[in-house]
Amino acid sequence: MKFADQVAIVTGAGRNIGEEISRLLATHGATIAVVDFDAARGEKVAADIIAAGGKAKAFICDVSKEDDLLQCVQDVTAAFGRIDILVNNAAISDNKNMFDLTSAEWNKVLAVSLTAPFILTKAVAKEMIAGGRGGRIVNVSSTTGYYGRSRATAYAAAKGGVASLTRSQAVQLAPHNIRVNAVVPNKIGSPVGKDEFDPTRPVVNLVGRPGVPADLANAVLFLVSEESSFIVGAALFVDGGCSVLMPGES
Ligand SMILES: NC(=O)c1ccc[n+]([C@@H]2O[C@H](COP(=O)([O-])OP(=O)(O)OC[C@H]3O[C@@H](n4cnc5c(N)ncnc54)[C@H](O)[C@@H]3O)[C@@H](O)[C@H]2O)c1
Repeated sequence: MKFADQVAIVTGAGRNIGEEISRLLATHGATIAVVDFDAARGEKVAADIIAAGGKAKAFICDVSKEDDLLQCVQDVTAAFGRIDILVNNAAISDNKNMFDLTSAEWNKVLAVSLTAPFILTKAVAKEMIAGGRGGRIVNVSSTTGYYGRSRATAYAAAKGGVASLTRSQAVQLAPHNIRVNAVVPNKIGSPVGKDEFDPTRPVVNLVGRPGVPADLANAVLFLVSEESSFIVGAALFVDGGCSVLMPGES
């Protein structure tokens, strides 16, 4: 097993992309700390992993709250004794034009989607450094972070920030043998904040289908594996090639 005896924290693991990342890493032997603020979702994902023969435990945590994040790292360390992998996946979107967006909404989106990866990475990296075994961290950005849009104003700023934060974290944690990379998805499973997956929703990409959570989970698996040991601070686009299309091409 690739990750036997290793422990992975996955935030926003109760649904869609985070759920699939958790399941996939568990099938490769990792013990999963399923982090979500929705207890029912988190407990179900942990129970499903255990029922499938894996190891997991739900940690109920609101990633927009610093105290919750620090307590979560303490609880995971107490439960499992180590942390090897962190996937900063939780995010929310505002879906609003700047004129409709309040400062409170802006702050909330930034807290969940950008500040949490800053706080959690810092806390987890301290544990990784103390453990002396290095580690791997993957931040989930979005193609929205690379483009101007008519809505999702705060979300776009947060996701652009995640890509930038990834590079600084990669530089600062490399001396501790902690590799930090980002994945950059577009249209994977259900839209952010929603349950429903419509496989017929129109997509413009080079593959001709929307992504499924396994597409993103496989990319994360690669970035936390030895096979990617020479890849640091990268942004791996998992978007069916949509971001290389020149405007007007289809
Ligand atoms: N779905 C897409 O098409 C898509 C595209 C680009 C980027 N992404 C990125 O992928 C990641 C996952 O997206 P998704 O579509 O699976 O999201 P989702 O909305 O389906 O799931 C997010 C999970 O995070 C949890 N969560 C939300 N706020 C939280 C908080 N404050 N504390 C703890 N948990 C919280 C939710 O309960 C939920 O289980 C996000 O970073 C998102 O920006 C998704």
